Formats: sequence, structure tokens, C-alpha cells
Amino acid sequence: MKFFADTADILAIKKLSTLGLIEGVTTNPSLIAKSGRDILEVTREICEVVDGPVSAEVTALDHKTMMAEANVLKQIASNVCIKLPMTLDGLQTCRALSEQGVKTNVTLCFTVNQALLAAKAGATFVSPFVGRLDDIGLDGTQLVRDIRVVFANYDGLSTEILVASARTASHISQSAIIGADAVTAPPALIEGLADHPLTDKGLAGFIRDWESTGQSILSMQ
Ligand code: E4P
Repeated sequence: MKFFADTADILAIKKLSTLGLIEGVTTNPSLIAKSGRDILEVTREICEVVDGPVSAEVTALDHKTMMAEANVLKQIASNVCIKLPMTLDGLQTCRALSEQGVKTNVTLCFTVNQALLAAKAGATFVSPFVGRLDDIGLDGTQLVRDIRVVFANYDGLSTEILVASARTASHISQSAIIGADAVTAPPALIEGLADHPLTDKGLAGFIRDWESTGQSILSMQ
């Protein structure tokens, strides 16, 4: 399962990229607003750091203006993936861009039927929002499970499931167990996956015992 960073924070992206932990990035209008940066400038910088898909979202609501915005965004770099809302205009734009060979990510997916529509529109990725479903008392992970089953039923559907709105480590592990293609998560959540209290405790014990030997590997050369 691929990991994407869900952020427009270039320092956090550089750190995760140096660690070799991410294969792509997703942004949205809220994340761009939070960064306080110009969308074209920050997206270009992200694309210089990360080779994989970098999702940049259109903000128009109608097909014609979405196409015009996509034409601007796709010129930033060859790895820009155009993020489109799950609306009829978004699907129409997705179809047109797919036919041009442009990567697309249909976002704000909350049902299996929406995921099917994104796949029919030729989307490269569809983004089920697990956290926002959990927020309203539904089961976001179940949606990912259902989409996986439906996509497996039809060989012709090549759209990748990009789990979005991940809030917990369990969202990530469950997505991997289900066989999602990718997950996008805030940098702190990705980094936190390395943590476990037994790892900390075990490491402290190893260091303590090692120090009691008085040895130093580097002085033995
Ligand atoms: C996905 O592409 C979205 O940018 C993101 O995952 C939304 O997450 P949120 O529900 O935490 O805002």
C-alpha cells in the first residue's frame, strides 16, 4: 500500500520524503489555505521533492471552468494529479482529463456508488473519506472494504482506492488489511506509525545492558 502525505507543508513533505516513507502527496483547498502559500508555487515545490502523484484540487464547480483550472494545474509538473469533486461536473471533467492521459483523483467519496461512478469516469484514484464517515457515526473502513469488493468484481475497473481523511493508525492498518492501493494521511500520523511503548521499553533495556558491557562497536575496528 502506497503512503501519501496529506499536507501542503513543504518541510513536513521533505522530511517524510528523506525518510523514504511517502510515494505521493495530496492537497486540498483547506490545506493550501492553511499553508498560507500560493497554490501554483507550493505545488511546484512539492513536485520537485516528490516523484509520485501530487494531487492539486480544482475549485470551480462547473465543467468548463474546472477544465480551464486543470489546464493551469497540469502544467506545473508532469506528476500533478488533478483532484476533482464527486459531482456530475467533476465526473465529466474526470472523463475528459482521463482521455487526455492526465492523472485524476475524485475526492469527497462517501458511498460505493460514488466510487463506481469515479471508476466509470476513468479516475486514476478515488478517495473515500473514512474519518469524516466515522465523525458522523458511520463506519469509514467498511466503505473501503465494500469498494474493494466491488472493484474486484469487475476486471475493467483500474481505478485505485486512495483512502483519505485518515485520522488513526487503525485507519491505516485496516486499509492495508483490506488491500487499499494507497492511503493519504497527515505527516504526524505517518511518523507516529513507528511508535510503540514496547519498542521504547525494549530499546531502553538493550541500551542499559549494552552500557553494562563497557564495549563500543566503533572502537573495535
Ligand atoms: C484527501 O485527499 C483530503 O485532502 C483529506 O484526506 C481530507 O481529510 P480531513 O477529513 O481530515 O480534512
